[in-house]
Order: sequence, then C-alpha cells, then structure tokens
Amino acid sequence: MSNWKPVCLLEDIPRLGARVVQRAAGGDIAIFRNADDEVFALHDKCPHKGGPLSQGIVHDRKVTCPLHGWNIGLQDGRAVAPDAGHCGRFEVKVEEGRVFLAV
Ligand code: FES
Repeated sequence: MSNWKPVCLLEDIPRLGARVVQRAAGGDIAIFRNADDEVFALHDKCPHKGGPLSQGIVHDRKVTCPLHGWNIGLQDGRAVAPDAGHCGRFEVKVEEGRVFLAV
C-alpha cells in the first residue's frame, strides 16, 4: 500500500517544468507538470549519463534531457527510441491542488 506524502502545491511546479524533491537516500525525485496539468515523477537522473531531467523541457508526456537531448517518457521513465534505457518512476497524484508522492 502506498504511503502518500504531500510535497507541494500544483502551482508550485512551473508548467512545462519540474520541481525537485530531495531525499536523504536514493537520489532526488523530479516532479513534472505538463501543459494539461498532469504530473509525473521520475528519478532526477537521465538514463544516458545522469543529466538532471528536472532542468529539461516538458512536452506532451515527455521530457527532453538538457544535456544531450534524449527524450524520456514521463509515464514510464523510458528513453524514446532509438535511444534505450530507463530511469525510476514514482506514483504521484494531485488532490484539490495539492501534489502527493508515494513513498
Ligand atoms: S545525460 Fe541525458 S541525454 Fe545525455
């Protein structure tokens, strides 16, 4: 069963951008918001060479890594072909304008 932790307000996440949730262990988590106000959570670490995905550009349900331009699917954390690899994803939800992360 998920343990939902409140992390911020939806409006705290820039549209087409991300907000970083820092963790003591296990690496930072990037929470993304797209143009439709959908939110997604991935490890803030590109599967290519570890670039900060939170600093990438969000489009549709993907983020483009700021380092070398790989596109990563926000729903599954997988690199879009022809690139290959994936990063961890986390459950996230919005209720009444508040964002919760499953930890
Ligand atoms: S580190 Fe993300 S594309 Fe290279």
